[in-house]
Amino acid sequence: MKFTKITLAVAMSLVTMVAVAQKFEGLAMTPPMGWNSWNKFACDVSEKLIKETADAMVTTGMKDAGYEYIVIDDCWQIGRDSLGFIVVDPERFPSGIKALADYVHSKGLKFGIYSCAGDKTCGGRPGSRGYEYQDALMYAKWGVDYLKYDWCFTEHLNAQGAYTTMSKALKEAGHPIVFSLCEWGGNKPWLWAKEVGHLWRTTGDIHNCYDCVYSHGSWTAWGAMQILDMQDGLRQYAGPGHWNDPDMMQVGNGMTYNQERSHFSMWAMIAAPLMSGNDLRDMNPQTLSVLTNKEVIAVNQDKLGIQGFRHEVKDSVETWIKPLSDGSWAVAFLNCSEQVRKFSIDWNTFSVTDPLYKMTLTTKDANLRFRDVWEKKDLTFKRKKYQSDFVLDGDDIVMLVISPKVKK
Ligand code: GLA
Repeated sequence: MKFTKITLAVAMSLVTMVAVAQKFEGLAMTPPMGWNSWNKFACDVSEKLIKETADAMVTTGMKDAGYEYIVIDDCWQIGRDSLGFIVVDPERFPSGIKALADYVHSKGLKFGIYSCAGDKTCGGRPGSRGYEYQDALMYAKWGVDYLKYDWCFTEHLNAQGAYTTMSKALKEAGHPIVFSLCEWGGNKPWLWAKEVGHLWRTTGDIHNCYDCVYSHGSWTAWGAMQILDMQDGLRQYAGPGHWNDPDMMQVGNGMTYNQERSHFSMWAMIAAPLMSGNDLRDMNPQTLSVLTNKEVIAVNQDKLGIQGFRHEVKDSVETWIKPLSDGSWAVAFLNCSEQVRKFSIDWNTFSVTDPLYKMTLTTKDANLRFRDVWEKKDLTFKRKKYQSDFVLDGDDIVMLVISPKVKK
């Protein structure tokens, strides 16, 4: 009898564990897409901003293009009550987080929030250290779908341990949630975070520039191109459900059109989460056209989930390659100089083998479609000249999707 009771208890807890695991499987099978408040608004967040951003996500067409999560970054929280529950800033969020999450959900979007593994967040607000289970329960009660979890004020904490604690707390709380680790790469999360969360920051913060290094005094922030360079050697760790995160985008925060296209294309090529970081309520048509280019987004969201790689660099022009699920390949030529670059690609000799996945793209003698996803038209070739002559402005990019032609 006793044996039976124990067996039953073990069986029941196994069933619960499987049910919990099932809720978290299948999340972020393609890189998460959404918006995060930090790059543009820092601590100037409020329920008004979040609601208006959710509205804009729908009315601008961003939602239709695939953007899903609205994430409030730091500074929504101001303290803890006598029982340890997190207290929301009542002036900035008078209706509370549950009502805000409901509003975002009513727009057909998902809702995300931010906390930190340390005693305090990077903005000096209360962190989750020691309150992980209590906070996770609160997020579940509010209906939070995405948690970004930072790494400030974490003295004497083991990163893998701290992130695992929150991961377990979120699973115990039972509400499916995408877990975004923001540890900046210092403890090599790509080696262990696949089992812990769905995405992990690989670097320090992105700065609002295309190509610069910015010192904040005790720490350094990086331009989009610097961050791109720092992704070297990490592609083997990314795949469906577990992504390298080179940080939220700065598209729409002041870059030139060429730079916005290059930044966005490269985030697509390296299967990065596409978290916009600009003011969605006030976007110029150019920025909107970049962020909603569905052909570029399709490369990012390809279900194979292979992170692209830098194939070669010639005269400051980098060739990037990303194999896609239907036998197509995305190929990007990125002009890393500020000057015009002219170059020709002879498709009779163009051949690239992915060194990790061992697939080869050979364009010679193949019946292929060359789609320019920014020009939104197919390349055409003059008879006997199976070659493309490109002229790229400084910081500009050509991005192609090369696919087998469907036989009619
Ligand atoms: C860190 C993170 C940023 C942002 C801020 C908030 O710097 O890396 O992305 O969340 O904290 O304070």
